[in-house]
Amino acid sequence: MITIKNITKDFYSGDLRQNVLKDVNLEIDHGDFLTIMGPSGGGKSTVLHIMGLLIEPTSGEVYYNNNKINFKNERSLDNYRRDNIGLIFQNSNLISCLSPLENLIIAMNSKESYNSKKKKCKELLDKVGLSKKYNSKVSSLSGGEAQRVAVVRALVNEPKVILCDEPTGALDSVNGKNVIELLLNIRKERNCTLIIVTHDEKIGELGERKIYLKDGELHEMARNL
Ligand SMILES: Nc1ncnc2c1ncn2[C@@H]1O[C@H](COP(=O)(O)OP(=O)(O)OP(=O)(O)O)[C@@H](O)[C@H]1O
Ligand SMILES: [Mg+2]
Repeated sequence: MITIKNITKDFYSGDLRQNVLKDVNLEIDHGDFLTIMGPSGGGKSTVLHIMGLLIEPTSGEVYYNNNKINFKNERSLDNYRRDNIGLIFQNSNLISCLSPLENLIIAMNSKESYNSKKKKCKELLDKVGLSKKYNSKVSSLSGGEAQRVAVVRALVNEPKVILCDEPTGALDSVNGKNVIELLLNIRKERNCTLIIVTHDEKIGELGERKIYLKDGELHEMARNL
C-alpha cells in the first residue's frame, strides 16, 4: 500500500547540511502494524512525515498503491492525504476554543449534512467514553481525554493508514495504555494499516513489524506475523 524507495532527507541550517535519512526503504502492506523505535534525532518523525506526505524527501520515491507521489502537486497531495491518511501526534493538537464535537465535525471531508456529521461524530466520541464531553471546551479536557479525541479525529474520514508520532508521549501509563488499546481495536475493526513511532519499549514490542531507525538508517528487526 505504501512503498518508500531510496529515500534521503537533508536539512540545512545556513550552509550546514544534515543528512537525516540515508537511503531508507520500506514496503508496507494493507493491514500491517509497524512500530518504529530508535534514539532521539534518528529520523523517526521525519520518515513518518514523509509517509504522511507532510514533507518532501530530498531524493527517492514514495508510492501509494503503486502510484508515485508527486510532491510538487499540492492538490494531489491533499487528495492522497484526505483519502488515505489519519495522523496522530504527541500532543493532541486540537483547536482548544472548540468542543470535541466541533473539532471532529470540522475535520470531516464528506459532503453529507451537518446533522449527519454530528451524529457520526457523537457515535465516535461515545465509543471512546466521551459522551459526557461532546460540548465541553477542549481546554478543559485531561491529556488522556484530549488524546482520545485526537484519535477519533484521525478516523473521521476512514483513513486506510493511521500514522502516530509518539501518541502516548504526553500521557501517564494508564492513559497511554488506553490510547494504544483504542488504536489496536480500531485497526482490528477496520483492518487498516497502523504505524506507531514510540520511545516506549512495551509499545514497540507490540508491533507485528518492528522498525529501528538510527542515524538515518532503517533496520527491520522482526516480523511476528
Ligand atoms: N524542519 C527541520 N529543519 C531542520 N532540521 C530538522 C527539521 N526536522 C528535523 N530536523 C533534524 O532532523 C533530525 C531528525 O529529526 P526527527 O524529528 O526525525 O528525529 P526523531 O527520531 O523523531 O527524534 P525524537 O525521538 O526526539 O522525536 C534531528 O537532528 C532534527 O534536528
Ligand atoms: Mg520525533
